[in-house]
Amino acid sequence: METVRVGLVGAGFMGKIHTLAYRNAAMLFGSAIPVVDPVVVADFDPVLADRAVRDWGWSRTAATWQEVTAADDVDVIDICTPNDTHVAIALDALEHGKHVLCEKPLALDAHDAHRLCEAARSTDRLTQVGFVYRQWPAVVMARRLIDEGAIGDVRTARARFLLDYNSDPDVAMSWRFDRARAGSGALGDIGSHCIDLLQYLVGPISEVTARMQTFVDRRRRVDGAVADVTVDDQTEILAHFESGASGTILASWAATGHKCDLGFELIGSRGSVRFGWEQSNELQFYDGDDPADRLGFRTILLGPTHPGADDIHTVAGQGLGYNDAFVIAARNTLRDLAAGTTGSIPTFVDGLRVAEVVDAVIEAAAGGSVVPVTRRAL
Ligand SMILES: NC(=O)c1ccc[n+]([C@@H]2O[C@H](COP(=O)([O-])OP(=O)(O)OC[C@H]3O[C@@H](n4cnc5c(N)ncnc54)[C@H](O)[C@@H]3O)[C@@H](O)[C@H]2O)c1
Repeated sequence: METVRVGLVGAGFMGKIHTLAYRNAAMLFGSAIPVVDPVVVADFDPVLADRAVRDWGWSRTAATWQEVTAADDVDVIDICTPNDTHVAIALDALEHGKHVLCEKPLALDAHDAHRLCEAARSTDRLTQVGFVYRQWPAVVMARRLIDEGAIGDVRTARARFLLDYNSDPDVAMSWRFDRARAGSGALGDIGSHCIDLLQYLVGPISEVTARMQTFVDRRRRVDGAVADVTVDDQTEILAHFESGASGTILASWAATGHKCDLGFELIGSRGSVRFGWEQSNELQFYDGDDPADRLGFRTILLGPTHPGADDIHTVAGQGLGYNDAFVIAARNTLRDLAAGTTGSIPTFVDGLRVAEVVDAVIEAAAGGSVVPVTRRAL
């Protein structure tokens, strides 16, 4: 596959970041990946669709997403719309024989995520879900350390995703505050990344207890009307893993002072690793086998020797940033598309495995009880 013809649905925040990633991936990786042809873009808002053509390089606009999924000159559908639209667009795209890149969370609940996996299973199409952080070099390096046994058995796993962009009660009502459109609030929006990271690093979560809170329960729409907020601003999870590890997850988009505080700490029987996005080019590693007079966390500064950064960095310490995370994800997807594999990307199945945990968390928070995670067969 030398050229990948893409149709984009949704030209908001993620539509822009994905477009940037395609363009930068071509610059950085050249002939090592297929060329992306940005064929067609649709957005409810024609101003945004037109902007994507004028400023971002898409060739034409479509009036509806159905025109994009049905387009004969498109191979891949990139879904960057609100959560409640993912299933219909992805199912239609698969029916039209397209590969599908879908932003997270894959669906509003595990039932719908499972429907998508079933539909994907009956095709040979690549189906990717937008869990971008697990592809970040520091995270892949943490996984390498775990796989090599460098921290022993993980006993304790903690993850957090704290932001403060919704702490202000004057932030306008949007689809993200509406359970019917988003599925959940901080839990699905940012907690889903934590769940994916911990399941990628430690293995499946088997049971949860949880507390969900809404701090601002009404918000004003841009048209002035006031609407109920029906999702969580903060969710705390106590999780047990199939491996025997236990841990916690805290997701809040109302965490004053925290700007993009995604992080995790894994404490093992021989050592530990910890990572925080606000120092995203560093991985902290504690090796319990170090000489006693030198024990302590060391800082690994990411550079060309680290997995996934090898063909981007020229000099260690120069640093990669948020947009680069999507460039790395685009590179991995384009490579897999060319090779006909899904070796390095999160797939719809990973999206389902997160949705199953999210469902259990919502149930646990409602009932105040321990809820086992129901895993669906595939
Ligand atoms: N992977 C990540 O780290 C990450 C980060 C942010 C958002 N997301 C996900 O990306 C998705 C989009 O989020 P966003 O922040 O870009 O939202 P956004 O509101 O900025 O953009 C969504 C766009 O979709 C358009 N849209 C809505 N319904 C549509 C429809 N039926 N047909 C055509 N266009 C439609 C809207 O007009 C809007 O421009 C969400 O699922 C979100 O959870 C993922």
